[in-house]
Order: sequence, then C-alpha cells, then structure tokens
Amino acid sequence: MNIKSLLEVSEFSPSSLQAPDAWMGHLPFAAWIIREVSPKVFVELGTHSGNSYFSFCQSVVEGGLSSKCFAVDTWQGDEHAGHYGDDIFTQVNAHHQQHYAHFSRLLRMPFNEAAAYFSDESIELLHIDGLHTYEAVTDDFETWLPKLAPGAIVLFHDTNVRERNFGVWRLWEELQGVYLANLEFVHSHGLGVLQLNNAPAQKKLPWLQPGSPEKQDVINYFAALGSRQLERYGLSQVESRADEQGRHIVVLTQALTEREEQVKSLDQLVTERDGRINSIMVERDAAVHHLHDIRNSRSWRLTAPLRFLKVCVLRLRRQFFTLCHLIRLG
Ligand SMILES: C[S@@+](CC[C@H](N)C(=O)[O-])C[C@H]1O[C@@H](n2cnc3c(N)ncnc32)[C@H](O)[C@@H]1O
Repeated sequence: MNIKSLLEVSEFSPSSLQAPDAWMGHLPFAAWIIREVSPKVFVELGTHSGNSYFSFCQSVVEGGLSSKCFAVDTWQGDEHAGHYGDDIFTQVNAHHQQHYAHFSRLLRMPFNEAAAYFSDESIELLHIDGLHTYEAVTDDFETWLPKLAPGAIVLFHDTNVRERNFGVWRLWEELQGVYLANLEFVHSHGLGVLQLNNAPAQKKLPWLQPGSPEKQDVINYFAALGSRQLERYGLSQVESRADEQGRHIVVLTQALTEREEQVKSLDQLVTERDGRINSIMVERDAAVHHLHDIRNSRSWRLTAPLRFLKVCVLRLRRQFFTLCHLIRLG
C-alpha cells in the first residue's frame, strides 16, 4: 500500500461542501480511491448537491489524473433524498462549469437512460448512490454491471442504514458472498467497496483481498479522517452561524443607536415643554398676585359703590327691555 498517497489525502480539503452531509465522512476516502484506481472513466449514480462527486473531481485535479468523470442524476430527488427544486442543479452546474468542465460531464437523466451512453467494459470506478431501496440499488448494479471494466471498483453508499425501507445493506450482504475482494466502512451511513472478480493481477487492490492484514488499518484510518472531516464541517457550520449572528447584532446595534437618538430628541422636546409650562405658571402666579394687590388697594375699595351701581343699572335696563317686549306681544 502506498503510504505517501495515504498521507497526502489526510490533507484533503474539499472545496465544495453543501447540505446534506450524509456522505461527508467518506470524502477523504473518495479523494484517495480515485487516485489508487486512476480510472480512465469514473461514473457516479446520484450526485445531488455534489459532495461526493466534487471530491472525486477535486482529487482528479490535485492528483494530476487523466480520468474522464460523469455524474448522473435527474436532480429532482427521490423518496429517500427528498424531492428538491432546480436551484440545486443550478448551483451544482455553476460549480462544475467553473472547476471541472474540462474533464467532466453532468448527465441530467435517469440512470437507466444514461447507461446507453457508455460502452461495455469501459468504467473502472463506479459509485452507486441513487434511491436506496433493495430493488432500486439492485437494478442500478445489474444495469451498470456490463459497463464495468475487468476488475472495476464499485462503491455503494448507505450499506449501514436499516430504516425507511433502505435495502443497500441487503444487496451488500449478497455481494460480499460473490465478490470476496471487498471492505465496508460502517461510519457515515456505511460505504461498501468491492472489486470485480475478473481483475487482472496488476489491478488487484491488495488491501481489499480477503484476509488482507491492511484491510482493518484502511478502515480505521479513513474512519478517523472521516470523523475529522465531519468535525471540520460542523465547526464551519458553527462559524457561519456565528457570522450570521454577528451580522444580526450589527443590524440590531444600529437600530438601537437610532432609537437612542430618537429618545434623546424626545427628551429635549419634553425639557423644552416643561420650561414653557414653568414660565406660564410663573406668569400666572404673578397675575394672581397682581389681581390680589388690586383687590386690596384703596382705590378699588373706594370705587366699589360705583361698580355696584353699574351692575344695578345693567340689571334694570335688562328688565325694562323684557317688559317692553311682553307688552308688544300682549
Ligand atoms: C442520496 S442522493 C446522492 C447524494 C450524493 N452522492 C452526495 O454526495 O450527497 C441520491 C440522488 O440520486 C438521484 N436519483 C435517484 N434515483 C435516480 C434515478 N433512477 N435516476 C437518476 N437520478 C436518480 C436523486 O435525484 C438524488 O439526487
């Protein structure tokens, strides 16, 4: 086994990571196996947001391989992955066109339709990750088997899921009895790896052979790299949530500053109004005081009979006019 290539992929850092994260724990292995096999043709059945496929492609670039790569998917989803809209394909296609279009193609069609575009015995590495029912994954394997080159490597994701009618585990149990050069990672929902029995001697992967002393080391090594990958992804998620909250805090702080400015100008209005009320009260007190002074003055008291006389005259005048009015009516 090539230790140098194992060490190299420990540094592998995927340039595109998107939800869902089901495949993430296997990305370092994807980077390694494609360099181990150096396939003329690599095909992935089931790409979704591109986590697995873009890691294979990135490793082709970083390893200087001359592989041709193909991703097949309707990019509509299925009952296990969930159904999704065109935005996923738009995003995948944009990343693909920018980085990998010179050696890779996206085939947006059903798997069985895509099989017609590959010659028999042409594919050296196949990754099957479509619908996970026993019937669907068996059909995928059997449809693509004639397309596999002698000694081709086949990967099956989700060999370790036993719920929601997943049945890859069942096919995997059957295939392990037929293709003895195999191993299974149990982390990240399980990934089965097998080599077809008709491998020429120079293509046989020694660490996959039955009884290989290296097999368990490979499993442990990539399980450890996989969990580090998942931790890094978890951390990046936490960081991006923290960034988002940071941006939210900036917006809230800005709103708070504006509110404080408003409170300040309202405070100023209240102070001005209090000042006006105060001066009105002072004026009123002065007027009351002045009135009191007038009432207590000598001239006011001396003119009191005149004011009384004026009131009496006004009253008599009013009564006179009322009487005249009544006589006119009578
Ligand atoms: C589990 S997801 C693939 C996950 C992907 N490998 C990753 O790294 O995240 C399965 C994908 O297979 C696609 N699919 C399922 N059955 C299909 C079929 N018969 N033909 C084409 N695409 C199919 C779905 O559209 C979905 O995007």
